This record gives sequence, C-alpha cells and structure tokens, in this order.
Amino acid sequence: MTNVIAIANQKGGVGKTTTTINLAGALAEENFRVLCIDMDPQANLTAGLGINLNSIELSMADVLVGRATIDQVIVPTETEHIDVVPAHIDLAATEGELFTMLGREGILRDALEGKLKSRYDYALIDCPPNLGLLTVNGLVAADGVIIPVQTQFYAMKGLNNLVKVINTIRLKLNRKLKILGLLPTFYDGRTNLARDMLDELKAVGDHHVFESIIRNTVKLGEAPLAGRPITSYAGYTDAARTYRELAREVIDLG
Ligand SMILES: Nc1ncnc2c1ncn2[C@@H]1O[C@H](COP(=O)(O)OP(=O)(O)OP(=O)(O)O)[C@@H](O)[C@H]1O
Ligand SMILES: [Mg+2]
Repeated sequence: MTNVIAIANQKGGVGKTTTTINLAGALAEENFRVLCIDMDPQANLTAGLGINLNSIELSMADVLVGRATIDQVIVPTETEHIDVVPAHIDLAATEGELFTMLGREGILRDALEGKLKSRYDYALIDCPPNLGLLTVNGLVAADGVIIPVQTQFYAMKGLNNLVKVINTIRLKLNRKLKILGLLPTFYDGRTNLARDMLDELKAVGDHHVFESIIRNTVKLGEAPLAGRPITSYAGYTDAARTYRELAREVIDLG
C-alpha cells in the first residue's frame, strides 16, 4: 500500500518542491520506493529530479484529461528508487479544462488506484502555489498533508485558508485526509524573527510541528541544478541530515 502525502501551501516559494525532492531522497535512501508527482505547471519538481523538460512526451496533463494512464507517464529518475510523474507547462491550460469535467476533484485519486499502489511505498505530491483544482486533486488523493511554512514575517498568513480547504475536503471528498504537520523552512536561528516565528507556530498548537527544522542554506538552492536530492548531491550537509530526520518522523507517523 502506498502512503500518499501531499506537500501543500498556497503561498509561493515556501519550500514545497524542495521538501518533496529531498524527503523523497531521504526515503529512497532507506530503500523505500517513492513516486514523486508533479502537480505544478512550473514543473520545478520534474526539472529538479533531473528530467529534461523538452524530452517529456506524456505528462500529468495527459493523465488528468484521460489521454494517458499514470503508468504510461511515469519516468525513472537518476536517483535509485525514485520515479516521477512529470509536469509540463501545458498543465496550466489543463486546469481550465478540468472545470467542465464531472468528478474533477478526484481524477488524481482515481488514477493512483490499482496496481500502482503495490509498486510504491510512498507517493509525494508537489502542489502548486494556489488553492485551485490541481491542489484540490492533490489533497483528495492524499492520506496526509505536510505544510511547509517559512519562518519569516507573515509566515502564518494564509494558513487558515489552507486549513479551511483541507477541512472541507475531509468533510466532503476525502475522510482520511490528515494534516501530518507544519514544517518550518528557511529557518535562520541568528534572527529573533525566525525564533519568534517558530515559537508562534508551536504556540498556536492547533497542528503538529515537525521537530526537523529546515534551515536557510544555499546548498538547497544548488541541489536542483544537479538534478538530484541533497541526500545524494551533498549527503554530508546539515540540510541532508535534516531531511533524513524528517523522513524518520514521517515514517514513524505510519
Ligand atoms: N531551506 C532553504 N534555504 C535556502 N533556499 C531554499 C530553501 N528551501 C528552498 N530554497 C530555494 O528557494 C526557492 C523556493 O523553494 P521551492 O521551489 O522549494 O518553493 P515552492 O514552495 O515549491 O515554490 P512554488 O510555490 O513556486 O512552487 C528555490 O530556489 C529553492 O531552491
Ligand atoms: Mg514548487
């Protein structure tokens, strides 16, 4: 059975894609088989896993409109145990097409059913920075959601909207959807602001906050250029170690 986890926050640039890639890397190191699913027309996950965007023939867009099965779209990456369902810029137009389709919120969930679930231990869904139908498809398909939150000013802004959407989806479309936790990202322990933000995240107390705190480091910006997770690109770094700790927390959640 695959454990399906969406990485979501409608705020841009908070570390969703970076977390998807590197959590996948850390899980793969533990010999788990991971399917990375790119739901973002920016295709940063696809590119960050070393896939040449010009080489893509079939992508998530084809799955969503029923032109291809997910099996036909999956491609292997350079990292052992990690495959990817690639995205392409045409996914933006596809989101518009979905509005006229019946059952439009559950297309990804349905696509993941069946024999795929015996091939992967984890499926990680990288959502785009909005609360549109692509993110909703990700959340309907998921068992749990990880919410990366920048430990910077306005970090909490928008969190309520996301939580409302998640609660509505749980009520109407996906009873099993759980918030696994908030993941502090871009943490700079030298600043009072970052420390205050982290305290605030924990103090609010409504949601679990992961013990693993992702620090601000240029290494995480470099890894996607190498087309590999930091765990293999620079496995000795603090960032790699922290993503391994996060993987451990995620595995322990079951
Ligand atoms: N902890 C970090 N320290 C420094 N840079 C980081 C860190 N995490 C991510 N980055 C860099 O910040 C940028 C934004 O990160 P990322 O793409 O993961 O965010 P995102 O939430 O997926 O963005 P979008 O909303 O556009 O999809 C990227 O260039 C990434 O390499
Ligand atoms: Mg992203």
